[in-house]
Amino acid sequence: MERRNQGIPPTTQSKEGNPLGTLGDFGIQTGHIPSTSLLTASRDAPEFRRKLADRTCRISQAIASIPAQGPGSVVFEEGNILERLAYPDESFDVVYSSQVFGHLPPPDMPLRALAEIRRVLKPGGILATRDGVEQHFYPRRLDLDRLWARNLSRALHKGEPDADPTESRMPALFREAGFDADGGKVCVGGGATVYSGPQTRQWLAWRASGQLKEGDPFRQSWLDAGITEDEIQQTLFAVGKWAETEDAWFASPECEMLAWK
Ligand SMILES: C[S@@+](CC[C@H](N)C(=O)[O-])C[C@H]1O[C@@H](n2cnc3c(N)ncnc32)[C@H](O)[C@@H]1O
Repeated sequence: MERRNQGIPPTTQSKEGNPLGTLGDFGIQTGHIPSTSLLTASRDAPEFRRKLADRTCRISQAIASIPAQGPGSVVFEEGNILERLAYPDESFDVVYSSQVFGHLPPPDMPLRALAEIRRVLKPGGILATRDGVEQHFYPRRLDLDRLWARNLSRALHKGEPDADPTESRMPALFREAGFDADGGKVCVGGGATVYSGPQTRQWLAWRASGQLKEGDPFRQSWLDAGITEDEIQQTLFAVGKWAETEDAWFASPECEMLAWK
């Protein structure tokens, strides 16, 4: 999966009386939620694809109407958070980053990203991050925690997943990056994303089956990580079973960090 240079950051320009000042959302993806991968995965669902395309179009029009300069403006820019961003030191009052650190394996990458964020934060500026730590599928007997969640992690990390991945180390990483945890300038919080209901399950299963189809780069990433054809077939079978199991559900606990520079 190509992740570099895809999503740095929209900024709202500081303006007189704006309590937020300058806000950076780092790793926003394409700037609108229906990403290219969703559109590609939706090739077998024309109606869903049409709705996504409509929505993308409406969002693009809305984005085009947002001022790029002055009060209330939003600017979309590409960049790599692991390299020096095109912002001077102390540019942002707030930096927000959602579901990005899981793409940055330890030990070096998350610290490089945090150092770059600290550089562009103003003194007293706030950093907020949110990252899914694990994925759990219920009922457990379908074994999707292993077949889907663990294999996904293997593919992402190109081999055996780390027992303590970046998402679970965020409190320690903030401290290492220089945020003053002992001085009360770091809050560790948590939340969860939950999916349930027959339609949501069917949508997730349809998306997973699309991604694991012959020729899809996602499927290839599984094969490259040493996941066998047999396991892929087992996963597809279990995903289908989960979708049709009454009251089956999914939960992903998230680490939510808030820190002041
Ligand atoms: C799972 S998406 C999260 C998108 C969005 N923030 C959200 O929560 O829905 C991960 C995002 O991290 C971005 N990303 C990963 N590594 C990056 C890097 N080194 N520099 C910039 N963006 C990166 C990807 O391009 C992608 O937009």
